[in-house]
Amino acid sequence: MSAQVRVSLEIGIMTLSLSSAAALESRIASRQARIGIIGMGYVGLPLTLLFSEQRFRVTGFDVDAAKVEALNSGGSYIVRIPAAEIVRAQAAGFRATAAYTEIADMDAIIICVPTPLDEYHQPDLSFIEKTARAIAPNLREGQLVILESTTYPGTTEEVLIPILESGNRGGLRAIRRPGEHGFCVAFSPEREDPGNDSVARRDIPKVIGGLESTATGLASALYGSIFNRTVPVSSPAAAEMTKLLENIYRCVNIALVNELKQLCERMGIDIFEVIDAAKTKPFGYQAFYPGPGLGGHCIPIDPFYLSWKAKQFDFRTRFIELAGEVNTNMPYYVIEKTALALNGHKKCLNGSRILVLGLAYKRDIDDLRESPSLTIIELLRKAGVEVFYNDPFFPTVGHGRHYDLNMSCTPLDDLGQYDAVLIVTDHTSYDYRRIVAESQIVIDTRNATKGIGAANIVHC
Ligand SMILES: NC(=O)c1ccc[n+]([C@@H]2O[C@H](COP(=O)([O-])OP(=O)(O)OC[C@H]3O[C@@H](n4cnc5c(N)ncnc54)[C@H](O)[C@@H]3O)[C@@H](O)[C@H]2O)c1
Repeated sequence: MSAQVRVSLEIGIMTLSLSSAAALESRIASRQARIGIIGMGYVGLPLTLLFSEQRFRVTGFDVDAAKVEALNSGGSYIVRIPAAEIVRAQAAGFRATAAYTEIADMDAIIICVPTPLDEYHQPDLSFIEKTARAIAPNLREGQLVILESTTYPGTTEEVLIPILESGNRGGLRAIRRPGEHGFCVAFSPEREDPGNDSVARRDIPKVIGGLESTATGLASALYGSIFNRTVPVSSPAAAEMTKLLENIYRCVNIALVNELKQLCERMGIDIFEVIDAAKTKPFGYQAFYPGPGLGGHCIPIDPFYLSWKAKQFDFRTRFIELAGEVNTNMPYYVIEKTALALNGHKKCLNGSRILVLGLAYKRDIDDLRESPSLTIIELLRKAGVEVFYNDPFFPTVGHGRHYDLNMSCTPLDDLGQYDAVLIVTDHTSYDYRRIVAESQIVIDTRNATKGIGAANIVHC
């Protein structure tokens, strides 16, 4: 092939490829683009609804047949998402499926599957890997694949792309330079804050790191149609690291106040009063609050994705490890304080009856993942306590990856029968005055009894 023919061929390919990107952009603008969202959980389902609200036709992929069935019959399994919103999305063309062959019909594919830690506290990327292996044979040229799951920097390029490239039949490659043929890839972290209604989801800026500028541009066009602001960064790794920085910042600051809370208690100072005063400073300070331990799918887990990856670079992330140590110890601290509270009434843990108030990892949500309440209940049981719980979001609690409780929610009456009531999650529906008035001892890990000022309250 002569150099001239090769150049004109390359220009031809580039024109074709650029025009396919332009075609996708125009399909996004006209709401014709088909969106496939993989993982209909706490992240994928709300994202589906945002796209549906903007009249995109969304297909939700999930391996959990019960979720697929619930969604297709217009139901919801997340408390803060009413079924009416699913029905409205259906009217805009939403349906759920487990059939990955439908990936071929999608213009954009957004991956929102779990990224937990394994039993050795190391990243478990098996959900991303399985998803990539299922997408790969159905990939077609010109599609945009976006990873949203929180993970260590390098996952998109080192894990996702190699599986997508090796598993597809047509030898398709990820586009690494504008103008190449293949499929576009980007990473865009989810910034969901469950239970926080003060910021509309549309107003949360969306960080986007494409493998090259076409991917960044297409992902920005796509997310720009549902978010008010997009924030492009130079690479998937920069976007992956952004999410980890945000969560590590929270993890470290929560550890700081958890440690200071323990010191304040010894010094007879109310840490919550101190935080309230400190946060009046209009610059340079952001309030974080102590609690019974970390919970949720993000803060207890994500930092360890980075500390694991850092080892490959012969680097120790000491802040993350120290914060992990302080935060992991908090449930043990709660047990210690509970034992001391009982001791003050000439009682001990062994043989006592304790009601745990709130199982969810934070106020007013129905998410139990990594909740400190689970560890606290297990520790109480090991110490010989007869444990009861109340949580309006969980009529029963069975077993999960790290717990095996098999309990049912106890009604909130006759509180005097318990040796202590332990507030682990400060749901707003609880009447704390009544709880304090009717209980023998109230151990409060959340400052839920602020302002009540009774002698039977033990702050912890
Ligand atoms: N929940 C949050 O508040 C939050 C916030 C920010 C980021 N994230 C991140 O988002 C990601 C998803 O979290 P989540 O809370 O939505 O998890 P989730 O467990 O609620 O939902 C994940 C869904 O993916 C499905 N799934 C698993 N493997 C699959 C596969 N191979 N194909 C199709 N579906 C599959 C599961 O059945 C489940 O429905 C995680 O990486 C998490 O760290 C979560």
